[in-house]
Amino acid sequence: MPFDRIFLDELSARNDIVEIVSQYVQLKKSGANYFGLCPFHNEKTGSFSVSPDKQIFHCFGCGAGGGVITFIMKAEGLTFPDAVRYLAERAGMQIPEQGEAERKAARHRERLYALCRDAGRYYYDTLWRPENRTAQQYFINRGLSRRTMNRFGLGYAPDSFHALIDAMTAKGYTREELMDAGLVSRSEKGHIYDRFRNRVMFPIIDVRGHVIAFGGRVLDDSKPKYLNSPETPIFHKSRNLFALNLSKSTKNDYFILAEGYMDVIALHQAGFDSAVASLGTSLTEEQARIIARHTDRIVISYDADGAGQAAAQRAIDILKKCDLQVKVLRIPGAKDPDEFIKARGADAFRNLIERSEDHNAFRIEQIAAKYDLEDDEARVLFLRDAARMLAGIESTIEREVYAGRAAKMAGVTAEAMNVEVRRELGIQRKRRKAAERREIRSPVGLAQPKDRSLAYTDMKSAKAEENVLRLLFSDQKLIAVAEKDLQSAWFSAPVLRKIYERVLELNRNDQMVDVLSFEGWLEPNEMSLLSAILEPGIPAGEHRGELQEYINTIRMQRVKDGTITQAGEDPLLTFGRIKKQNAGGQTI
Ligand code: UTP
Ligand code: MN
Repeated sequence: MPFDRIFLDELSARNDIVEIVSQYVQLKKSGANYFGLCPFHNEKTGSFSVSPDKQIFHCFGCGAGGGVITFIMKAEGLTFPDAVRYLAERAGMQIPEQGEAERKAARHRERLYALCRDAGRYYYDTLWRPENRTAQQYFINRGLSRRTMNRFGLGYAPDSFHALIDAMTAKGYTREELMDAGLVSRSEKGHIYDRFRNRVMFPIIDVRGHVIAFGGRVLDDSKPKYLNSPETPIFHKSRNLFALNLSKSTKNDYFILAEGYMDVIALHQAGFDSAVASLGTSLTEEQARIIARHTDRIVISYDADGAGQAAAQRAIDILKKCDLQVKVLRIPGAKDPDEFIKARGADAFRNLIERSEDHNAFRIEQIAAKYDLEDDEARVLFLRDAARMLAGIESTIEREVYAGRAAKMAGVTAEAMNVEVRRELGIQRKRRKAAERREIRSPVGLAQPKDRSLAYTDMKSAKAEENVLRLLFSDQKLIAVAEKDLQSAWFSAPVLRKIYERVLELNRNDQMVDVLSFEGWLEPNEMSLLSAILEPGIPAGEHRGELQEYINTIRMQRVKDGTITQAGEDPLLTFGRIKKQNAGGQTI
């Protein structure tokens, strides 16, 4: 961990989680915990809890959870070290001197920033050399002015395997630095060569103005059309947006989200200086949170094709989670914003923005497109489908407006549509109630982790694994028992195994086992799961027997799936033996 434990203890002591959360959420005390409306998802009844004893927060609705540092990371969109700095500053604490390892890493990053800036300059200079007319002409043919090209720092990587290597090593950069910056590739024989060759170059610049990566496009129809820098110590694709360095100072009260580099550049040139693009991937939650720090309103302007429209659907969900007002723009008669502006001009595009639809209207139209509304039977199916979507709209007024619109499309009365919507609301309400009841009946939860990517494959084992962890966090003395009887290889859930192994390691090093020692070490989704596991707490008392039972359950599951076989023993015998021990609650 980059910060030492004594410092983190002090930090956490001076930043009580209840006090910190209270600055974002109105909390009410109930029993030992505090409750309020979750700041990380939309809700009307509070399912967000804060435990002052355990110093954790947990949302029963969206599953978010963690300690005070995780809370600040999520609420302010900060990285772990930045969240620590934020809390330290707030409490008037000095950040301790960094260790040698971090100082070295920081120096390395500074070198990579400098290298990327110099590489960007090199590509820029190369573009304007007389022999590279074709590359200049490429941009000119695409309608870019010299001013726009300079504003975006566009360049050209020559058709050579070593031009950049030569230019950069002459400036004193090492081959390792070139490799770490993602500017070169390594052949099977171990030779390095320029990654970008004969491509026009788009520098990717972070909010602070550092060149951190590049996208390079071929000048013809060859593949791959765009080549991008890999992930590097200074470039994290999911945490950056193309052109945010420019768009952050826009005067517009909305952002435009496009798909491609050229779309964004064409938009800026046409005066839409709040356009950004996610970088060749579908929009991530981190990118959405970053956007939400700069604006409240966003217009999605993706490609007109099926892939673009499907990506828009996904982007809507992600952006709504960040409380952005989302509109979706349709581009008639063109493939993407770039082509539309080229063909019809800036004013026509401004018109599209003004007429862009609320995301609900966009969704209804997407649904309608699936059905032949001339056909009676299809119309009925459309109404059902639309009702399901409409029932998900929280505001009653909005729901009625869009129900009216759907009714019109299907040529039925608003009343008929409303009947369907009410029916659907009833179904969804019942389903929610049933789910709530299930949760209440089994407080420890038979549920899968909220994050599907962490889904359990062996539910019975995973629940026992969760219970083991809950016990070990509540009573550190039990860790020695577990270490003796429970091998980490027996864990069925990789994330739980990872936590267990760290618990053992912390204990061996005589360190505290609590949420704080996992902050910044677990991924946010893993942290959420850990706090969900710890939230219920453990009543005071002796829990050795219970621990032994959970361990036996896990062992039994491993015997069943063949992970454990006693040397020379029939698996069935092992199974029976452990089962017997289990029934007696006995140790082996
Ligand atoms: P598009 O294929 O829609 O390209 O990819 P575009 O931006 O309209 O390209 P032009 O107009 O032909 O130049 C959208 C974005 O997806 C990423 C790039 O970021 C691109 O801008 N992409 C696309 C890649 O990373 N690699 C590819 O091979 C293609
Ligand atoms: Mn395009």
